[in-house]
Amino acid sequence: KMRVGILSAGGDCPGINAAIRGVGKTAIVEYGMDVVGIINGFSGLVEKQTISLSESQLSGILTLGGTILGTSRLKPFKVNEGEDPTVIPSLIKKHYEELKLEALVCIGGNGTQKTADLLAQEGLNIIGVPKTIDNDIWGTDLTFGFDTAVHIATEAIDRLHTTANSHKRVMVIEVMGHHAGWIALYSGIAGGGDVILLPEIPYDMELVAKCLLERSHKKKPYSIVVVGEGIYKEGKKKSAGAYMAKQIKRTTGLETRETILGYIQRGGSPTATDRILATRFGTYAAQMVHNREFGKMVALKNGLVTSVPLSEVGGKTRLIEPDNKLIAKGRSMGVCFGDCTK
Ligand code: F6P
Repeated sequence: KMRVGILSAGGDCPGINAAIRGVGKTAIVEYGMDVVGIINGFSGLVEKQTISLSESQLSGILTLGGTILGTSRLKPFKVNEGEDPTVIPSLIKKHYEELKLEALVCIGGNGTQKTADLLAQEGLNIIGVPKTIDNDIWGTDLTFGFDTAVHIATEAIDRLHTTANSHKRVMVIEVMGHHAGWIALYSGIAGGGDVILLPEIPYDMELVAKCLLERSHKKKPYSIVVVGEGIYKEGKKKSAGAYMAKQIKRTTGLETRETILGYIQRGGSPTATDRILATRFGTYAAQMVHNREFGKMVALKNGLVTSVPLSEVGGKTRLIEPDNKLIAKGRSMGVCFGDCTK
């Protein structure tokens, strides 16, 4: 019987359990494999902490947020100065062999896919499955977790509209996304943001202020400013949202409040879209194990599930291109991206 290991690593997101279920059930039911769950990401391989996953243990987890396997941010190939960089990878290799794994499915974001590639180079049979709310993994058009995060952020923006209107305030909302502005762009457009600031587009504070003052002069009672957490790079002490709210108060004199949405965006049950994408990715990964297609990451390309070599993915981030159609549409509807006068 073929034995396949599954782990989830890096920051969690809604849909991981749906993916674990997709891999596990397909591996057990379709291919008669044994499935081993690795606890807490790569730490579980270092500490040899595993559970055997049966079909019944994989039932009822489709709708659950988080990950039943736990996760950690451990980067096995990243060591502190003076430490031997081969110790942890060789421990992982040793335990992979002792556990008699013939394949390892690594569900994770950019960091995880990089580690997955390095482990593949060490000779392990690796398959990557992309997941993150940030939607910033190179090689795939979409990641699960993103749709749920956009829904949560959009609902938050909807709620800010009513209180902003009552008090005639500028409301700044900071959303996640690391160095990518996908959540900010999508929730900003869906929630009718007036100013949307993305890490990919350098903004001009004067233009942001001008846009907000023009709205106020036109007797628009309030404004919504959606900010990607990665726009503020001058130092990490203050959040981008808090920083932006302060700048707006200073430059416009308008009454301004900030909301930092935070981890709410990563918690809870995945949307239907994310459940479906995670299930498609998971079942495809199990098929890849069966076909012994290793050293690759599952990916969505033009609506179809396929795979890309891990060596092409490792460490690269998929940012928003300046010619993104949604940016153009937003501009024509009067959204200020901080770099034009519209
Ligand atoms: O990558 C997902 C993400 O939620 C980012 O949007 C955010 O910057 C980061 O993780 C937060 O990481 P941590 O879980 O380490 O606080």
